[in-house]
Amino acid sequence: MSAITVRVPAKVNLQLAVGPLREDGYHDLVNVFHAVSLFDEVTAAEPLDADPSAAPLRVRVEGDLTGEVPVSDDNLAVRAARALADRAGRSYRADLLIRKSIPVAGGMAGGSADAAAALVACNDLWGLGLPVEDLMEIAADIGSDVPFALLGDTAVGTGRGERLAPLETAGVFHWVFALADGGLSTPRVYGECDRLREEAGVAAPTPAVSEALLAALREGDARALGQALSNDLQPAALALRPSLADTLAAGRTHGALGAIVSGSGPTCAFLAESAEHAHELAALLKDVDGCRSVVTAHGPVPGATVAG
Ligand code: C5P
Repeated sequence: MSAITVRVPAKVNLQLAVGPLREDGYHDLVNVFHAVSLFDEVTAAEPLDADPSAAPLRVRVEGDLTGEVPVSDDNLAVRAARALADRAGRSYRADLLIRKSIPVAGGMAGGSADAAAALVACNDLWGLGLPVEDLMEIAADIGSDVPFALLGDTAVGTGRGERLAPLETAGVFHWVFALADGGLSTPRVYGECDRLREEAGVAAPTPAVSEALLAALREGDARALGQALSNDLQPAALALRPSLADTLAAGRTHGALGAIVSGSGPTCAFLAESAEHAHELAALLKDVDGCRSVVTAHGPVPGATVAG
């Protein structure tokens, strides 16, 4: 096969409980990930030119507002492909094309998704046949959210978010995502979370999974899920981007069952009652100040999957 395309979903965090800062610079988390139908596509192709002096791994990015995505060796998909080649113990070549629909630096793990997709695509392109357990290990070294992008559906992550256990869910949940102009840096939002806690003299709690959230997922109860959504990074994201408070308030006013900053933001996520309600809500949110665009999606959906 000379080219493999993998489709990979964005995630929203249904619960993001942030514990104390660890010595390694990460925070202990309870992170309930939920994969939604907003996809990037990554194609890994055998390079057409046989120039041995060309870089073995090259990347191009297409899509809306992709200017901030590095096309250097720092690109997460390139790092993932290189880590896979290292694991296989030899050098491999690939041209990667990333078609982005997941907002860049939007708190929906778009970069992590591309890394997961590159692992699946290159594993196939290079005929390595590594099992998903091996890909999960490599994924965890690339970033805390990368293993979930391989797994998809709904799962709880502990540790720094990379140790995953799938969660039982019923039915389909309908979402609206309000994309903001510009991204927010994840390390900066975690740093602000620590700073706000220190300023308030509040010790970081030991993160624990919400039983109300688990029950809502098991029962497919969107109303209960809306009430149970929580994100410890939200106050920090709002401190860094105060206009997000207006976006969240607009969603609540227009009948969202839940309104939350997605991960480290600045994307805001709104839970709707149905697909129709999601479309109505999206139409109403489109004109809110600070909202670059609005998309609807549903979850859960599977993780990185070969599309052709
Ligand atoms: O793992 P990843 O590289 O995606 O994390 C990006 C940044 O987010 C880290 O450098 C760290 O600042 C922050 N982070 C954290 N605790 C976690 C996950 C991420 O502080 N559990």
